Amino acid sequence: MNPLMQRLGLRVPVVQAPMAGGPTTPELVAAVSRAGGLGSLGAAYLSPAQLREAGAAVRALTARPFALNLFVPAPLPGVTAAEVAAAVADLAPLHAELELPPPALLERVREDFGAQFTAALAVLSVGQPAVFSFAFGRLGRPEVAALQAAGTLVIGTATGVEEARALAADGVDAVVAQGGAAGGHRGGWAHDERADTLALTRAVVETVGLPVIAAGGLMDAADVRAALAAGASLAQCGTAFLRATEAGTSAPYRAALAAAQPSQTTLTRAFSGRPARGLTNRVTAEVRHPLPYPLQNALTRPLRAAATPAGRAEFLSLWAGEGVHRGREGTAAEILGELWPK
Ligand SMILES: Cc1cc2nc3c(=O)[nH]c(=O)nc-3n(C[C@H](O)[C@H](O)[C@H](O)COP(=O)(O)O)c2cc1C
Repeated sequence: MNPLMQRLGLRVPVVQAPMAGGPTTPELVAAVSRAGGLGSLGAAYLSPAQLREAGAAVRALTARPFALNLFVPAPLPGVTAAEVAAAVADLAPLHAELELPPPALLERVREDFGAQFTAALAVLSVGQPAVFSFAFGRLGRPEVAALQAAGTLVIGTATGVEEARALAADGVDAVVAQGGAAGGHRGGWAHDERADTLALTRAVVETVGLPVIAAGGLMDAADVRAALAAGASLAQCGTAFLRATEAGTSAPYRAALAAAQPSQTTLTRAFSGRPARGLTNRVTAEVRHPLPYPLQNALTRPLRAAATPAGRAEFLSLWAGEGVHRGREGTAAEILGELWPK
């Protein structure tokens, strides 16, 4: 039992990673928190109203602490008409296969972060203690202070030692050290070391005098123990929970995860414009001219939305970490029990 576990009243040193885009349903988050770990709601793609609703749904299922997670935005990148045309040309044949019109870049490419943050603060202020975690950047000091004044623990994401230092200087309470094996988006913003998770954890523990949460490729009890032995206070596991009964992972995504082989993941910008780790498929192979994030994310949304009901995993972002082939099905409580046996 370390200070971070004590502060949050955790019985299990495992964070179920926030996974925006569907997997982290209120049911999954609440099940993990009820079982003694820390469930996290990946809210980055939710509107403020959806975020409030999802937060209230978790609260209705458990009084235990949980985390809400958002992506910190950077200024929107500028792109030329030629760049947009090249990105559209990559996707147009895939759209045609699903009988969709060619993709078009919409004016509104992401949610309003300020409104999401206000909604998150309102959700987190209801029960104590709670956690706000974030990725893709630094939160302003006023935001960190507002969360802490509401009794919320603030956790930033670092992919390297320099980012961890910057987050510590901003006053966060703990840092996620995301190694190169991690599934989903690279969570940093400056220098991404893509390091071995345990090596990065040790380096961040030595650098910042804050609790560190290790993330990336942690799939079983031996991995979690190794992360704690490297100095982590908690292990954050995403891929391990993707096939949980309570997860919102779609059927074609689940089937692809179940069939995954070792070395079948790749880092790709094809879906969102930001490097992210997932299973290789036609999009990772055929999209050669992605726009920068978040424009590509908006451009590929119709393809991804249509591919799910059509059962076409070759067009879906199949985010998964390097340990994906070691994943299993089960209830969230069973999976948590394997990560930290009693
Ligand atoms: C499907 C998926 C979605 C993710 N979405 C988010 C997210 O919304 N916010 C975030 O901070 N991290 C996100 N991550 C990264 C996780 O926080 C974590 O770093 C990663 O899952 C750890 O590696 P593992 O998947 O090998 O356990 C996501 C990961 C996956 C697999």
